[in-house]
Formats: sequence, structure tokens, C-alpha cells
Amino acid sequence: MHNIGSPFSHLGSFFAYQLPSEKRLNDQIERYSPDQQIMAIDYHDNPLLDNLATAIMLVDANLRIQYLNSAAEMLLELSGTRALGLSVDQLLMENGKPLAEMTQTLQTRMPYTKRQVTLALSSGQSISVDYTVTPVQLHSADYLLLEFQPLDRLMKISREASIINTQETSRAVIRGLAHEIKNPLGGLRGAAQLLAKELPNPGLKDYTDIIIAEADRLRNLVDRLLGPHKLPENKPVSIHEVLERVISLIYAETAGRINFVRDYDPSIPDLTGDMGKLIQAILNIVRNAMQAFKDNAVFTPEIRLQTRILRQFTLGDQRHRLVCRVDIVDNGPGIPPAILQNVFFPMVSGRAEGTGLGLSIAQSIVNQHRGLIECLSQPGETRFTIYLPLESTDEQH
Ligand SMILES: Nc1ncnc2c1ncn2[C@@H]1O[C@H](COP(=O)(O)OP(=O)(O)O)[C@@H](O)[C@H]1O
Ligand SMILES: [Mg+2]
Repeated sequence: MHNIGSPFSHLGSFFAYQLPSEKRLNDQIERYSPDQQIMAIDYHDNPLLDNLATAIMLVDANLRIQYLNSAAEMLLELSGTRALGLSVDQLLMENGKPLAEMTQTLQTRMPYTKRQVTLALSSGQSISVDYTVTPVQLHSADYLLLEFQPLDRLMKISREASIINTQETSRAVIRGLAHEIKNPLGGLRGAAQLLAKELPNPGLKDYTDIIIAEADRLRNLVDRLLGPHKLPENKPVSIHEVLERVISLIYAETAGRINFVRDYDPSIPDLTGDMGKLIQAILNIVRNAMQAFKDNAVFTPEIRLQTRILRQFTLGDQRHRLVCRVDIVDNGPGIPPAILQNVFFPMVSGRAEGTGLGLSIAQSIVNQHRGLIECLSQPGETRFTIYLPLESTDEQH
């Protein structure tokens, strides 16, 4: 039996609670009345527990939730205050059954770990986790400490790390190739100009003009592949201002035919970055949706812009304290499956007149802001998700 009372005593009020009565208040609703509620376990004042990446939960002998940290709130999609007092087996179902062994553990006092368990959350979502249950005694009452290791997130992190890797590799290849093309192009153009001057027959100048014009066209393309050479600015940027600018630009372009739905979290602080570039990135994404609406005669075109804040979120191999998540969702035809996997690569386009550069540029801009961009698409719903870390570079360790 572990006793975490004394070594954690410096946490002050964290484990200070009144012991709940054994009597069930109500057979149906397993919730404490306010006077019996555990004296607010002040988890907001517990940076130690709230900064853990591991989701932890403390339940009493009746399996009622007494405490959960921020990571648990996020993982289990529960709000701390609303979850307190609720019975854990009402909230989580393991492979369709309540978490039965827990009650036995209170008798046997043996900690145990279960691996790759699918938990059904009350929201209807399911997550896959490893979890450990450890009996603990606090103020001579029995409790269970639950630790959850989310497997989906771990898999997602490694997938994201590989996305970032691929994105970086492809950009390096493109930059290398673009420079290789650019250098001889300069020579080619110069030689054509010299040749034009030496030509005895002015009629032949048409040919050198073609060489020069095509060299210029290619150079233009290569420049766009390389992206803007201006260094990005680093200033406070409000993500909502960026989104509003994009909306007003597209609104003007489409004479208000697209319905924009705003679902913003107004508490998101400014991020540090280049406003012009971020507008460009999001404009490229929104403009694609606009073009897909037009090409497919979508009847009620709608674009939803959602912003959320994520705490302790890992992007690639870097854990960030605060990350802003922006979702851009349209109800258009979806990205053609044949190009979905490669849609962020340059020159990949599903449209006859497309250059295939829009999303590749959007991706470079998001990466310049140390963020990540992802896409999910099916007919009727295309979702681009952008993650942007909020702390400035010098705050990082
Ligand atoms: N929201 C969307 N709905 C449908 N298709 C899309 C959407 N966004 C991107 N696409 C597809 O991805 C392709 C690549 O987009 P992009 O990189 O901007 O290049 P371009 O717009 O020049 O083709 C588009 O041609 C289109 O086929
Ligand atoms: Mg485009």
C-alpha cells in the first residue's frame, strides 16, 4: 500500500478534503450534494500535477472521482468541476463493460496495469489507453489512483514526427532542385541575349525571344517553389485577426455567397509570427475550398473556422505549454482521393489550371512558425488543421 499523504504534504490543500459519507445519496445520480462535496481540491493551484503529461485520476472506495489533473480532463473529455463526484464506471466503459476489477483491487490492494484497452467516453468517442490502478491510503481512507497512458496520442505523435520529417525532406529536395535549375537558367538567358545582338537576320530574333521568355517563366516558377525570400517578421499576431482578414477577402471575392461560421475561443493569446504570411497560408486553404465549391456547384457552401487552445501539446518532438489549433472545415466535394496523400507537395493539383503550389506554400509558412498542418478529407467535409505554438522562441527550453 502506498501512502502518498506524507511525501506530498508540501502540496498543501491538494489532498485536504472532507471524507464523504458512505451512504449513497441517490441510486440513479451518483453525485454528492454540495455540502458533502469534497472541499474543493484546488487543482488549479497545483502546477505540479497539472503539468504532468500523464493523465491521473483519484477515485474513492465508491469509485467516485475525487480529483483529475489537466491531462486527464483533456484525455477523457471531462471538465474537472463537473466530473467531481461522478462514478468512474459511469463515465468510462472498458470494451463495453464497466471497469470491474477496480473494486476488487480495493480488497486485494494489489496494483495492476492493463494494456491497450479501449475506453468508451461519455461523449461517444473511444480512446485506446494503457492504464494503471494503484490503491492508496489517504487520511486512513482507501482510494485508487488511476494513471492513463493514451496510446492514440503516442501513435499520433510519432505520425506527426514523421509528417514533419517528410515535410522537411521534401522541402530540402525542392530547394536543392530549384537552385540547380535557377543557376543554368541565368546563363541560358544571358547567352540568348548575346546571341540576339549578334544575329544577322532580325527574323531569327523571334527564336531568342522565345528562349528568353521561357527562361523567365521557368525562373518565376522556381522562385515560387523556393518561396518568399523575405525573412518572416516576428511580432505578436492575433489569430482571429488573421482569420477575419481572410474572411473579408474571400467575402469580397465571392460577393458573400459562402457562409462563414466562426467558432472562436476568444481567450487565445497572441502568437508570435508574421501576420502577412499567416494570412497568405490560411487564404490559400480557404481559396481552395472556394474553388472546389465553384467547380462542383455546391449548393450551400459553408466554411467553418474554429480556434481552440491546447495545453501541454507535443508537436513533432517538441512539447509546448500552449498551442493554438485552427480548423478550417468546408462542406465541399472533398479532395480527390488520388492526390490526398500528396496534397502538400508542390505541383500536386487536382485542377486543370492549378499550379499545386498553394498548399505547399501554406505548409512552409506554418513550419516557419514551428507549427504543423494536417488534412482530413471526405466528400462533404474537408478539414485542414493547423497547430501553432504560442510561446515565443526564447521562452522555450
Ligand atoms: N478544400 C478543398 N476541397 C477540395 N479539393 C481541395 C481542397 N483543398 C485542396 N484541394 C485539392 O488540392 C489541390 C492542391 O491545392 P493547391 O496546393 O492549393 O494547388 P492548386 O490550388 O494550385 O491546385 C487542388 O487542386 C484541389 O484538387
Ligand atoms: Mg490552391
